[in-house]
Amino acid sequence: MSTRLVLAALASIQEAAAILRTGGLVAVPTETVYGLAVDARSASAVARLYARKHRPQFNPLIAHVLDLDAAVREAIFSPLALALAQQFWPGPLTLVLPRRPDGTVCDLACAGLETVALRAPAHPVMREVLAAFGGPLAAPSANRSGTVSPTQALHVLSDFPEGIDLVLDAGPTPLGLESSVLAVSGPSATLLRPGAIPRAALEAVTGPLAHATTATLQSPGQLASHYAPRAPVRLGALSSRPGEVMLGFGGVAGDISLSPSGDLSEAAANLFGALRALDARAPSGICVAPIPEHGLGEAINDRLRRAAAPRP
Ligand code: TXA
Ligand code: MG
Repeated sequence: MSTRLVLAALASIQEAAAILRTGGLVAVPTETVYGLAVDARSASAVARLYARKHRPQFNPLIAHVLDLDAAVREAIFSPLALALAQQFWPGPLTLVLPRRPDGTVCDLACAGLETVALRAPAHPVMREVLAAFGGPLAAPSANRSGTVSPTQALHVLSDFPEGIDLVLDAGPTPLGLESSVLAVSGPSATLLRPGAIPRAALEAVTGPLAHATTATLQSPGQLASHYAPRAPVRLGALSSRPGEVMLGFGGVAGDISLSPSGDLSEAAANLFGALRALDARAPSGICVAPIPEHGLGEAINDRLRRAAAPRP
C-alpha cells in the first residue's frame, strides 16, 4: 500500500474524517508531534494501529477530544483534574483519570486499565479533524514504537514505508515535544511523563509534583530506551570523538545546534528533527552538549536520557 500525503485543507479534513469513520489510520498534526489517529471507540481500528506501530499491547493510548464536554463523558474529573483542564486545555496536557463505566473509549485503547488518558489538543487542524469526526481519536505519536517522534509529515512517511491511509501535512509541529502526562487521583497528581508544559507551570496548579516511581510501570513513556535513534547516544559532551556527530546547544555549536542562543523552547521544537538528521548521517555515535535541567530542559533531558539508555 502507498501513502497519500495531502496538505491540510477543508476537503482533506472531510476525507480524513471519512477514513477514520471506516476504521482507517490517518496521521494528523498536533501542536506537539504528529499523531497516528484511529477511532478510539473501535477495538478493531485500535488493534490495527498497535500492529502498524509495532507497539507492545500493554502501552495504553491517549484519547484526543475536542473539549472538556467530550472529556467528561469518558472520565471522572476530580476538582483538581477540572482545574488542570480549565488551565491547560486546549493544549499539550494529557490527564490520566478514572474511566467512566459508560465511557466510549474501548478497553484496548486503555490497555485494559481502569484509567483513560485524555487530551484536548490545540492544533487547529487536529481540532477540525476532531470536530468533523465527532468522537474521541486514539493517537499515539506517528512513529514506529521506540524510534524518535515525528515533528514533520516526512518523518511519518519514512517510518511507515508500508503505507498508511492518509497523512495530513500542516508543516512542522510548533512545540516538537510530546504532551506532559499527569495522573490525577482525587486531590493528588503524579507526573508520568515530563513534556511540553514545564513542571513549574503544572505545579502552580497541583502543588509539588512527585515523579512516578519506576517500580510501577504506570506509563510506558517511562520505558528506559524509548526515543532511540540508530546510533548510540552520549550525553553531556563538550566536543565530539572521532566518528561521532554532535548535537549542540547554546555556546557548544556541534554539527547541528538545538538552539544557538540557548533557548529551550527552540531546542524542544528542534530536538527530534535534529536527532533524525544526525542519525541519517550514519555516524558511529551521536554526542549531545549539556542542556540545562530547568523549564523545558527537564523534558528534553528526559527524552535524551532515554535515547542514550542501554538498548533492550
Ligand atoms: O503529545 C502527545 O502526547 C502525542 C500527540 C500525538 O498527542 N501523543 C503521544 O502519545 O505522545 P503516545 O501514545 O506516544 O504516548 C502516550 C503516553 C505513553 O507514555 C502512555 O504510556 C501514557 O501516555 N498513557 C496513556 N494512557 C495511560 C494510562 N491509562 N495510564 C498511564 N499512562 C498512560
Ligand atoms: Mg510516542
